[in-house]
Amino acid sequence: MIFLSNGDGPAGYTAREAARTNYANINARAPRSAGSPATLGRRACTVPQRLVMAMDIRSHSRPREIQDFIDAARVLFAAETLSKEARTLAIQVFALLERPGAFRYETRERFPACDWLDQALEPHLSASDPFGQVARSIKALEPYIGWSRRMTVANASENFLEGHANGTICGPGGTEERSDLQLGFTIMKPDVRYPDHGHPPEEAYVLMTAGQFRKDRGPWLSPGIGCGIHNIPGAIHAVRSDDNPFLALWCLKV
Ligand SMILES: [Fe+2]
Repeated sequence: MIFLSNGDGPAGYTAREAARTNYANINARAPRSAGSPATLGRRACTVPQRLVMAMDIRSHSRPREIQDFIDAARVLFAAETLSKEARTLAIQVFALLERPGAFRYETRERFPACDWLDQALEPHLSASDPFGQVARSIKALEPYIGWSRRMTVANASENFLEGHANGTICGPGGTEERSDLQLGFTIMKPDVRYPDHGHPPEEAYVLMTAGQFRKDRGPWLSPGIGCGIHNIPGAIHAVRSDDNPFLALWCLKV
């Protein structure tokens, strides 16, 4: 089922306010236990950061920067501004993330569209809400993000190849290497159209900037920051940026 929510959340409050409320509620509901991956990750970060970043670490702890990203992304994907289907998928993905993967702190190949990351994140960087925490975590992880590009360009804009990059935080080739899920984001420079595409895993998106989604070759829609879409397996979908850079989080269960 296709779902695309409006810019405002239920009861007239904004997506940002809804996410902030969820953030407070989730943090209150689920305090971290002494042995949780989150606390283990924070303990791991007592190691001098330069040393941690220089190593290819394989351990059962999780670095703080990755855990911070996951914690805040989980709140954004739990917002009632998303469809029930999107939130249900996200619950499954974030349950899998209770078990850390292996960490690859190695500098990755960057693509031209990565240069638009700062402008896309800047409005959120000083915010004391999950958007801010996601933005700061992405900045902290930037050198180690698993960047990739989609090479099929059918129906895409001519500037697509140079104008986009996909950043995997958790998943195959990601900062946290694992094969059971994908959690990351797409950055696009202004005026880029991503190609129509489909894939077997269902998928949920959350927008961090303005941007448009299209499903099943239907009309282009602008859900607004904090909103997104859910794609059933195989559904044809695409995104495009307006005259600003585009940044959206996505999660899939592989
Ligand atoms: Fe997709």
